[in-house]
Amino acid sequence: MSPIVRAFFDRPTGSLQYVFHCPATKKAAIVDPVWNFYPEAGAVTTESADEILAYVEAEGLEVVWVLDTHPHADHFSAAPYLSQKLGAPTAIGEKVTDVQKLWKGLYHLGDDFPTDGSQWDRLFAEGDEFMVGEIPVRVMFSPGHTLASITYVAGDAAFVHDTFMMPESGTSRADFPGGSTEDLWTSLRAILDLPGDTRLYIGHDYPDEGQAPEYMATVAEHRLRNRHVKDGIGKAEFIAIRDARDATLPLPTRMLAALQVNIRGGRLPEAEADGHSYLRIPVGKFEPR
Ligand SMILES: [Fe+2]
Repeated sequence: MSPIVRAFFDRPTGSLQYVFHCPATKKAAIVDPVWNFYPEAGAVTTESADEILAYVEAEGLEVVWVLDTHPHADHFSAAPYLSQKLGAPTAIGEKVTDVQKLWKGLYHLGDDFPTDGSQWDRLFAEGDEFMVGEIPVRVMFSPGHTLASITYVAGDAAFVHDTFMMPESGTSRADFPGGSTEDLWTSLRAILDLPGDTRLYIGHDYPDEGQAPEYMATVAEHRLRNRHVKDGIGKAEFIAIRDARDATLPLPTRMLAALQVNIRGGRLPEAEADGHSYLRIPVGKFEPR
C-alpha cells in the first residue's frame, strides 16, 4: 500500500516537514516538524506545528508517531509539542546518544545531562520495522550529515531528510560536528539501491521568494541526474565535490541554539528562577565562516 504524503514548508529555515498516512485506516505519522524560533528575539512560536495539527484534524487522521530523522542544526524540533497535543510517541535514531555526548561536550553541560536518549519514547536501529496503519515502515541508518541520521522507508515513499537535496542541488552537507562525507556517500548509495520508483522526500529546499519549494524526486530520477551522486559518479569524485561545496557554506544561523534544544528531544533547558529558559552559546569553539 502507498502512503498519502503531504508536505509543509517552513520558509525561514527552508525545512520540509511531512505527514504521511495510510489511506485505508487514516493512521498517520509526522516527520521532522518545526518549532519556530526567531533568533533575534529569542522567541519560540508554534505556527508550523499548528498548521500540521489543522491538517490532521481536517483530514480526520489518527497520528500514531511523531518522528525525527536526526537532531537538526537549523531548526528546533516540534516533536514534544505535537506528541503532547496528539498523544503519539516520539522517535529518532538510536545513535542520537552519540550526538548527545558530542554536543554535551561542546556546550560544556553538567554531568546531570542525560545522554541515553531517554528524551524520546523510542530509539530506532537499522532494520527496525513498524506499521502506520497498513503501511510498513522500515528504518535505514543513514549517517553522514549527522552521526544519528536515519531514513524512514514507508511503503514506496522514503523520508531521507538531509541526505539528498533535489537532483539539481545534489546532496546535503556533511561538515557539522560528527559529519562524514564518506559515511554520507555510503548512505546515499544505499538509498539509491531502493526500487527506482521509490519517492524520496527531502528535508530542505531554498526556493527564491515567491517560488514554491520542490521536495520529491524518485530514486530513478536521482540516479539519472542528481548532480552529486547520479550513476557514474564514484566515491572519490563525490567526496571531492561535497567537501569543496561544504567549504563555501556558512554555519546555519540557528545551529548553536538548535542543537541544545534538539539533544533534549526538542525541549528548552530547564527554566531558571525567573521562569525563563536560557540558551548557551559556546564562544570560540567554531571558526567564523
Ligand atoms: Fe539537518
